[in-house]
Amino acid sequence: MSESVFITDVGPRDGLQNQPKVLSIDERLQLVRAIAAAGVPQIEVGSFVSPKAVPAMAGTDQVLAALEAPEFATPTIALIPNMKGYELARAAGAKTVTMVLYASDGMAQKNAAMSMLETEAVTLDILKLAKQDGIEVIATIAVSFECPFDGPTDPALVQTIVAKFLDAGADQLVLADTIGAAHPQQVRELTAALVATHGSAQLGCHFHDTRAMGLANVYAAVESGIRRFDSSIAGLGGCPFAPGASGNVATDDIAMMLQQMGFDTGIDLDTLMEASDLAETLTGTAPGGRSKAWLKGYLAKQER
Ligand code: COA
Ligand code: ZN
Repeated sequence: MSESVFITDVGPRDGLQNQPKVLSIDERLQLVRAIAAAGVPQIEVGSFVSPKAVPAMAGTDQVLAALEAPEFATPTIALIPNMKGYELARAAGAKTVTMVLYASDGMAQKNAAMSMLETEAVTLDILKLAKQDGIEVIATIAVSFECPFDGPTDPALVQTIVAKFLDAGADQLVLADTIGAAHPQQVRELTAALVATHGSAQLGCHFHDTRAMGLANVYAAVESGIRRFDSSIAGLGGCPFAPGASGNVATDDIAMMLQQMGFDTGIDLDTLMEASDLAETLTGTAPGGRSKAWLKGYLAKQER
């Protein structure tokens, strides 16, 4: 049996929040369902953030309501920036939330209007509530490698945050390269150190492809033992609060690479291409995975 890698598609959140075109609830649902149809095991379907700050994420409660089990079997996640977000997510029936931590004050202020330490304190409060509420918490550390405001991140700071929040009961910790500035050597060193200390079961990585190193960074993390990755259908994305960030590494590319390397992702590439096409049609701006032209030709040949 081949080893598994667990992919979370964050396109319907990280991707859509940064598109010039705001999709309707129905269009967001179409995209989520198309990604799920391809067998992606988990999808971040939206966020509970100020609709003034991120108009594209308004109505995430309606998205969650429409995706209730048992009709929709794929586990969903909603991102939250603060306690208000947690309360809204809980009220909407979220089973898993991603709370954002920061490895710089500059980014914490810009993105959450708090200091780094304030976001840590709120996250500790959220973790206590979530245990009582039976909600799973993923803590994502934004700017784990470099901040557009404060510069390079000290890996020791990220290690401290990971240890603190695993200890506090977070279900998972995700290192986010929010602006896509990390290079593979950095990724390899930090992830290897973290896996050596904590094992890999609760660790994940989230890369953006700004400098075309997204897949190389995924590979470096895989080599260190990381088996959980965020990616975005058709490479949708960017962060409206992080200047210069482009889309996430595309689910199209990461699924193809990992499968060719012999890992099981549970994803059907043919059906994933349909989701990728839909992302492009709906947004008009999704770049599509870098492998897409080749991959579609290859898949067509296989079918003949
Ligand atoms: N969901 C919905 N509304 C929220 C909210 C949340 N999680 N948090 C705050 N708000 C609302 C407040 O109710 C208030 O609304 P009002 O103007 O109608 O009274 C308004 O946002 C400002 O609230 P305040 O507590 O003063 O917020 P702030 O200015 O300190 O912080 C943020 C603003 C962080 C809440 C807002 O900028 C935000 O949601 N940013 C989103 C960040 C994001 O999505 N980043 C991408 C993911 S990494
Ligand atoms: Zn991101």
